[in-house]
Amino acid sequence: MSKDKLKQYVYIVQSVKENTKCKIGVTNDLERRLKDYNSTTGKSKENISIYLFTCEVCDMKQVEDDIKAEFKHLREEKSREIYFYNKDLFEKYVNFIKTHKAFTEEIFIKSDVQKEVVKIVKRTTPSLKERGLSPKDVMQKAQKVDNDEFYTRYEDVEKEIEMYDKEMWKEKTVFCNCDDAVDADDDRNTSAFALYFMQNFKKLSLKKLICTHYAGGIDLFNQGPKGYIFTYIFTKDGFKELKDYPKGYTGSFDDPISLKILNEDADIVCTNPPFSKAIEYWNIIVESGKKFLIISNFTNVITPAFIPYFKEKKVWAGYNRVDYFLTPKKQITQASGHWYTNIPIKDRPKYENMKIMPLKKIPEKYKKYDDKKILVVDNNYIPNDYKEPFAVSAYPILSGVLEKGYKLFNDKEYNPYINGERRFSRVLVQKI
Ligand SMILES: C[S@@+](CC[C@H](N)C(=O)[O-])C[C@H]1O[C@@H](n2cnc3c(N)ncnc32)[C@H](O)[C@@H]1O
Repeated sequence: MSKDKLKQYVYIVQSVKENTKCKIGVTNDLERRLKDYNSTTGKSKENISIYLFTCEVCDMKQVEDDIKAEFKHLREEKSREIYFYNKDLFEKYVNFIKTHKAFTEEIFIKSDVQKEVVKIVKRTTPSLKERGLSPKDVMQKAQKVDNDEFYTRYEDVEKEIEMYDKEMWKEKTVFCNCDDAVDADDDRNTSAFALYFMQNFKKLSLKKLICTHYAGGIDLFNQGPKGYIFTYIFTKDGFKELKDYPKGYTGSFDDPISLKILNEDADIVCTNPPFSKAIEYWNIIVESGKKFLIISNFTNVITPAFIPYFKEKKVWAGYNRVDYFLTPKKQITQASGHWYTNIPIKDRPKYENMKIMPLKKIPEKYKKYDDKKILVVDNNYIPNDYKEPFAVSAYPILSGVLEKGYKLFNDKEYNPYINGERRFSRVLVQKI
């Protein structure tokens, strides 16, 4: 077959045991590519790769480049096409591919391909010993690829918390419900949230700090620690640390015991929750009615599952973005996070980023009308004399445009097309 007649495919593939990320790739041969994934040395038979989505396209290189540009912020690794995965993101990826001008048709892989894959994997999976690996090596490898294991740096916690009125913390119980490895004497293994609140307990006049340790993390050999509740209080005899291991407690933020603490004890919830469970986490925390100060993805303000919270003014941006996190090995890694809260923000410094002015003063380069004649503005320019809804990126929302006389027009993401070409996702806002 000559090269130009080769079929071109885009696929989304996932290892069944690594369900917080997926690979978006291109190939001329879907079956062979899947076999390649599943015959990789060192893959356990339980961890086969399966296609989540496959389709034929007429220009796979173009689709691949456009995916890279559109989802740059969702790349788990800069040099590889590994993207964060959850149900919502997956929908976004598929939607993007299906609406791309090079999309031809979705392909449904026949089940015997999967059967074949399982067969191959069974024949080729060597034991740990055969692979020359110790359980520790595997654990380290697994930790490296788990994208929930992004730890917040102490300076980022400090920088945000110190923006709020100190009075707010007085006599309050702070609940850090995704903060494992807690020990006041062990700053290597203690979350920066827990450390910050312990070290500033008196300064903030806190009543209590409660942190919960999640037992459901990577536990390849079923030796992981149990979920526990760590409580820190100040008594007449000094600081007291208590660790409680209730029977059957998972430490998950949605465990009944964690929910009871949230509803009955907590005044302010403060953490960086797992990226892969952000939708469930936001639902519980926002609807609890408690005050919260949490870190999540920068793009939540333009992501369908979260937009309604911003529209209903149940959540708004905190002061700072968070661009650096620590890996389990305490190495710096980059990811686009932002603080979110329901605590009032005073004189938001980011207002200064916005350039609010009459439409005709906005440089041509930064204002365009899309194929539906919707105005799309960029670079934090905001027209103050335009009555119709217009499209903006995450930046003005995080800079506080919704506090400056504008509202979200609806609770949906907006995908502009200009001359048939899809642009970055936005939301529609409108002057009130
Ligand atoms: C993004 S990390 C942040 C950890 C810590 N809060 C910090 O800021 O450094 C999220 C943590 O939540 C843990 N986690 C995952 N699922 C969880 C759940 N259902 N409940 C509580 N914690 C969970 C992960 O293991 C991970 O350590």
